[in-house]
Amino acid sequence: MLMARIAGTGSYVPEKVISNHDLERMVETTDDWITTRTGIRERRVSTGESTTEMAVKAGRMALRSAGISPSEIDLVVVGTVTPDLVFPSTACLVQSALSMRGGIPAFDVAAACSGFIYALDVADRYIRSGTSKKALVIGVDVFSRIIDWNDRTTCILFGDGAGAVVVVASNGREGILSSHIHSDGTYWELLYTPGAIRHSPFERGEQRDHYLLMKGNETFKLAVRSMEEAVKEVLQHNGLSPEDISLFIPHQANIRIINAIKERLNLPEEKVFVNIKKYGNTSAGSIPLALDEAVRGGLIGRGDIVVMASFGGGLTWGSTAIRW
Ligand SMILES: CC(C)(COP(=O)(O)OP(=O)(O)OC[C@H]1O[C@@H](n2cnc3c(N)ncnc32)[C@H](O)[C@@H]1OP(=O)(O)O)[C@@H](O)C(=O)NCCC(=O)NCCS
Repeated sequence: MLMARIAGTGSYVPEKVISNHDLERMVETTDDWITTRTGIRERRVSTGESTTEMAVKAGRMALRSAGISPSEIDLVVVGTVTPDLVFPSTACLVQSALSMRGGIPAFDVAAACSGFIYALDVADRYIRSGTSKKALVIGVDVFSRIIDWNDRTTCILFGDGAGAVVVVASNGREGILSSHIHSDGTYWELLYTPGAIRHSPFERGEQRDHYLLMKGNETFKLAVRSMEEAVKEVLQHNGLSPEDISLFIPHQANIRIINAIKERLNLPEEKVFVNIKKYGNTSAGSIPLALDEAVRGGLIGRGDIVVMASFGGGLTWGSTAIRW
């Protein structure tokens, strides 16, 4: 059976570190409050690097680790909600920057923190249908641009980051077993950005603020519930149980969300990958960045079952199971 196998991974974070102590000087907060409520100690922020530049760095690394040249890629899908431009898409800019072939499909998927799981779902379906053979899938966000750095309820949570995978068509047993994506737009106001899109002079109304707005408590509860359901769904679909999971890579939004899911699924600590301490919530970058660190750290071996689950504004959520 034709499957989509992950042939290489890559990631990139900007150099500049903003620690909780740095934030103590910017808003009324403490390192202790942030650490206990979120598990985050520091995050990276871009000091001028664009979304495209970060995506290109992660993408190039994934291509190198897969041993595949950019000219072989026949599909580019980028999950992001912080593109550099309204259009063209980040995927088109990446295609150009990496000198990929002209004529291949390249497009973005907007699903906030679920961006990578959505993008991977698309690539998986393109590959399993025989339409594409070698895809570059990237999750990237530069939330530092849309965060109100005077708002202590949101600025402590987010950071910038990018991750990428090269997915290839394969006839073996290894690859994406299944992926499941969901959304419920009735909850859109829980977590949103009013928009870089400005009103035209022909419309009534004030200019919209472009900062991210969030209802933290409600978001928290829905994050736990939907990610738990998404993991159960992907396990059930493949006849697996939580004990079969070799490594669980959850979206890194809050350590308390991750711990709640870990407990509900009865997963041992060592099977849950966590790097939130260093990066905070990097939105669409979060899962591929964690995946790349897990691969490079030797935590994933051939035949392992890797399960990933996400949650984000939209609301959007989803899960993927991979036999490595
Ligand atoms: C945002 C979040 C960390 C807040 O944690 P919480 O335990 O729910 O805290 P609350 O919002 O109830 O606030 C508790 C108190 O801390 C205060 N507070 C909020 N942010 C603070 C900060 N950075 N520093 C210090 N105090 C803060 C609040 O004002 C409140 O004070 P009060 O009790 O005097 O009213 C948590 O709700 C969360 O992580 N939600 C999910 C967000 C998320 O993951 N979003 C992305 C999804 S992809």
